[in-house]
Amino acid sequence: MLPEFPFLAELVALRRDLHAHPELAFQETRTAEIVARELARHGLAVQTGYAQTGVIGVLKAGTSTRRIALRADMDALPLAEGNTFAHASTHPGRMHACGHDGHTAMLLGAARHLAAHPDFDGTVVFIFQPAEEGEGGARAMVEAGLFRDYPVDSIYGLHNWPDLPVGEMAVHTGMVMASTNRFEIVLRGRGGHAAMPHLGADAIVAASQLVVALQSVVARNLPPTEAAVVSVTRFHAGSAWNVLPEEACLKGTIRSFSPEIQDRAESAIARLAEGVAAAHDCRAEVVLTRCYPPTRNSAPEAALCLEVARDLLGKEKVHANAAPSLAAEDFAFMLEEKPGCYVWLGNGAGTHKGMSPCALHNPHYDFDDTALPIGIAYWVRLVEKLLGKA
Ligand code: NI
Repeated sequence: MLPEFPFLAELVALRRDLHAHPELAFQETRTAEIVARELARHGLAVQTGYAQTGVIGVLKAGTSTRRIALRADMDALPLAEGNTFAHASTHPGRMHACGHDGHTAMLLGAARHLAAHPDFDGTVVFIFQPAEEGEGGARAMVEAGLFRDYPVDSIYGLHNWPDLPVGEMAVHTGMVMASTNRFEIVLRGRGGHAAMPHLGADAIVAASQLVVALQSVVARNLPPTEAAVVSVTRFHAGSAWNVLPEEACLKGTIRSFSPEIQDRAESAIARLAEGVAAAHDCRAEVVLTRCYPPTRNSAPEAALCLEVARDLLGKEKVHANAAPSLAAEDFAFMLEEKPGCYVWLGNGAGTHKGMSPCALHNPHYDFDDTALPIGIAYWVRLVEKLLGKA
């Protein structure tokens, strides 16, 4: 049975207000103000401006020195919203397409409930982080001294998940999300007249061959038992219809679950770039950037989260063996520092026609408000479990 939260209607309004006012990485000033105001209103000690726009609330009960942290992310995406409902984005070109508005609202709800019913013994640190979407807000908070200033025993996170219906969850014992890393390849040829290709070295033809060749990185260079993705996501070349450009630029992403696989993928990409470039009388310049490490839950903490989720929703509603996702999550930086667990909370398929479920980062995405009380209840039960009274 889910506990009753008398403030739920108020929280739905707050969630929709956040959805209507999305803010991008490290610009979450309005969101941070609302978060700080709500935490203070319910009696928590609040620190603002952590890693620019991060907010931290602290709630202590009893005398135990045990400390845990719960984390939500606050940022939106640079994407025009396709929804037309009343709480659609009022900020052109920005949108909560990943449900972080729901994450923020649920953690505020948990803080509010626990402040009113401090049925635990210890300290809960509520972390509202900026810039999860590619800008590494979690890393910025860790580098700012998060775990020196708030030395917690373990840390917990969650993400709404459209592949699971509302009322279901997934708790992974080990790997949850992949690492994400970038590559950028510039192929330099010799530009010239489009009617005299024999006088130049065509960077577009070389880059096109390279896009095809890169499809063999996973298929032919990595063990078939390992999951990995190499995707070319940008291809820029040329500025006129009658000019062979001097260079072509490819960008893309590499996803995997281990540094060894990452190393092998990177060396295959560099080798192919150089080889294909040479075959076309071009030169290749390859820049490889490591972004987010894989997100891996620690086993004891994952076991506790699984127990809490199953007590809350029933055994059959909580998946312990779901395949990990090749998407990435910067909560990984926090899990590199502390034991902890990151879970998926069912958000349902949504209503966008033609796509079921409506994917995260889709212009028609929306957090499902009926998942709010489930997420709050999960946080509350987790705190009561981890910091249970003796
Ligand atoms: Ni997200």
